Amino acid sequence: MDRNQRRTFPDLLTNPEAWFMELQINGRVVQVEADPAMPLLWVLRDLLNMTGTKFGCGVAACGACTVRVDGRAVRACVTPASTLAGKRIQTIEALGTPDKPHALQQAWIAEQVPQCGYCQSGMLMAAAALLEKTPKPSDADIDAAMTNICRCGTYQRIRVAIKRAAGIPAGGAVKKRV
Ligand code: FES
Ligand code: FES
Repeated sequence: MDRNQRRTFPDLLTNPEAWFMELQINGRVVQVEADPAMPLLWVLRDLLNMTGTKFGCGVAACGACTVRVDGRAVRACVTPASTLAGKRIQTIEALGTPDKPHALQQAWIAEQVPQCGYCQSGMLMAAAALLEKTPKPSDADIDAAMTNICRCGTYQRIRVAIKRAAGIPAGGAVKKRV
């Protein structure tokens, strides 16, 4: 039996639908028991107390819940955790540290991006996925990748901060690749 489908005895008594899962989160293997349909966002916030990833809409529309899975931006509110066995999950808690912030976090601070801040962890994870795939993004690249919603309207500062993190000079647009 797949180890991610193995059920434990006490759990079978209380919830016959629960699965025993091993997830790789921020470089650590984490074991959880959850309904196979439980979205990763609930696993992170409710079972693992990792609250840096935010709940916004719950229907993949806002991006507040964005994490990275094998480097790609993924909306955790609609991604069952049971589908992520063997994949590398990264959350905002592992993007950088206060002592060693990620280049994007440094740029976010320098450009004073956050307003209320609620959307920003998802924005940072989406931006990190963008820069890994496209180290020198054009405006069009940024527009295509950054589909998250910010109710405070920080979009312009996010664009500037992404360029700063990418080492693109202020005002220097990168020509779109063809
Ligand atoms: S909470 Fe997941 S996209 Fe809005
Ligand atoms: S900073 Fe407030 S929602 Fe984006």
